[in-house]
Amino acid sequence: MYKIENHKVSDAARVDSHLDEAGYHKLYKQSIEEPDTFWAEQAERFLTWDKPWSKVHESDMSKGEAAWFIDGKLNVSVNCIDRHLDKRGDQTAIIWEGDEPSDSKNISYRELHEHVCRLANVLRARGVKKGDRVCLYMPMIPEAAYAMLACSRIGAVHSVVFGGFSPDALRDRINDSDCQAVITADEGVRGGKRVPLKQNVEKALKECPNVHTVVTVKRTGGDVEWHEHRDIWYHEACAAVSTDCPPEAMDSEDPLFILYTSGSTGKPKGVLHTTGGYLLGSAMTHHYVFDYHDGEVYWCTADVGWITGHSYIVYGPLCNGATTLMFEGVPTYPDASRCWDIVDKHKVNIFYTAPTAIRALMAQGNELVTKTSRASLRLLGSVGEPINPEAWEWYYHVVGEMRCPIVDTWWQTETGAIMITPLPGATDLKPGSATRPFFGVEPALVDPEGNELEGVASGNLIIKRSWPSQIRTVYGDHQRLIDTYFSAYKGVYFTGDGARRDEDGYYWITGRVDDVLNVSGHRIGTAEVESALVLHDSVAEAAVVGCPHDIKGQCIYAYVMPMRGITPSDELVKELKAFVAEQVGSFAKPDFVQWTPGLPKTRSGKIMRRVLRKIACDELDTLGDTSTLADPAVVDELVANRLNRA
Ligand code: WT7
Repeated sequence: MYKIENHKVSDAARVDSHLDEAGYHKLYKQSIEEPDTFWAEQAERFLTWDKPWSKVHESDMSKGEAAWFIDGKLNVSVNCIDRHLDKRGDQTAIIWEGDEPSDSKNISYRELHEHVCRLANVLRARGVKKGDRVCLYMPMIPEAAYAMLACSRIGAVHSVVFGGFSPDALRDRINDSDCQAVITADEGVRGGKRVPLKQNVEKALKECPNVHTVVTVKRTGGDVEWHEHRDIWYHEACAAVSTDCPPEAMDSEDPLFILYTSGSTGKPKGVLHTTGGYLLGSAMTHHYVFDYHDGEVYWCTADVGWITGHSYIVYGPLCNGATTLMFEGVPTYPDASRCWDIVDKHKVNIFYTAPTAIRALMAQGNELVTKTSRASLRLLGSVGEPINPEAWEWYYHVVGEMRCPIVDTWWQTETGAIMITPLPGATDLKPGSATRPFFGVEPALVDPEGNELEGVASGNLIIKRSWPSQIRTVYGDHQRLIDTYFSAYKGVYFTGDGARRDEDGYYWITGRVDDVLNVSGHRIGTAEVESALVLHDSVAEAAVVGCPHDIKGQCIYAYVMPMRGITPSDELVKELKAFVAEQVGSFAKPDFVQWTPGLPKTRSGKIMRRVLRKIACDELDTLGDTSTLADPAVVDELVANRLNRA
């Protein structure tokens, strides 16, 4: 155990960091007081525009409306590839590390250009044009990045669906945004196991009438079902087209991608991001937060199926001409030294991962870390959930040997880019705190009535003004955007998170205040798991809550009321877990399923989630007032049969 203490900038920072403390304050002040000047300077510095904007920004937060760099034109793939070719055509753009340690390759910017242009031409030849939606259901292979960039080159809007999602979840996402093409692989490979991606696509497409094209990358050579009119092999199609592909000139506010994320209802939301603002947000944060210097090797362990992979494996790093590492496998295969072996093999300088991975590796003991060199590392990052101070100190001492600052970065799918974070060289660190707002971000804390809280306080976290990479709409349902983010508190963005601000103005994110769980960094709506459970024939009603878990952060606890005539059994519990995996994905499987003859409800019929949460977490002394329940005896029954006991 390491002592939990604050760490000065001078404890662990390179001397030539982009910013120091004064530099942060100066830029932050400008970003708030003269936003148009600030953002115009940044947009010119980080991006290459085909045509300049006529106005920096316009927004109406009460309607959830925002536009950035209005009338400006640019192409994302040109910014991420073409403009680097003169200076760094031969530099490695992507280092790919396969699932097996023997399997890796480097892709230069010139090669990246060729791959992306070819695939873009294939898509064009299949009739995909500007504004069309393309679904990507891919393993972590370079073709996933090629596909994202190829879409951006021709102005198609990609919707990446994480490869761990089930066929049903894939089907719903394809249909919600009416994708007409799908890019996938025959099989994915993770931790020595194969994932039947193409087979899942086949299942999904049984109910997706508008998909006319499926492009399949041959990753393993495994057997696949094939439909002549619809299916093409990636390697065959790309070999047959030109490497020259004129980019589509995109408006700054043209859609770049849709990414589905969970909220407090059963239906995932298609978060829509646009071109100029998103790209600026991801590039600028990648530069400042990771203090990226030319020539460094940068590794974000996320999957491209999540926003972290979009912004910090693909768009941010490539826009900055960086070398980005993409890892196909898992941190524990072949053994728990894998991450550090990769760091040594590719001389990784910057390493960005999730607290759940840090805790899992910490549990395996120090030896697996200390037997590796890690001499190249100089900066560590954390994202996805609050990091507990014990894990923070372990990361700092054991992995980083007290030489690497840790950036604990708070943000969301909806924010597009990092929002609250330390900056290396500029911010003193406190384990567990995401510290201070990034440039242009104006966070605040409010009480449930919406009164802003001053000074040291705890409350709901809101963002008071528009920022370039903010969500523009929920695909096909703008009202849902307004209802979810811009209605709880008038004229501001509501994050769904709670936070505390300390005496130094540092933010400490405490977690979701809505019915959204964070399991191993995966965002899961309790309603999604509940809807899956009640679809099963033996389930009458279900309620799902989260409880703390040492490694996963949170785990899933389900209360299930069987249909009349159904006898609960362990067999049935297994079946229900498998059923949820099938409906949503295996990461959404409940850890506990408790049978109950009824759920605790108020007299008006509302499920008392607070009580269910306490029972699931074994916190019986704080059950609180249950007298408003329609049938208080239900609670005694639930307590007596609870499954998660200390
Ligand atoms: C939710 C967003 C974009 C990051 C990957 C997850 C939680 C994220 C932190 C952090 C505490 C964090 C929040 C947020 N979260 N980063 N550094 N400290 N909590 O993106 O799936 O959209 O989830 O993740 O609860 O609302 P996401």
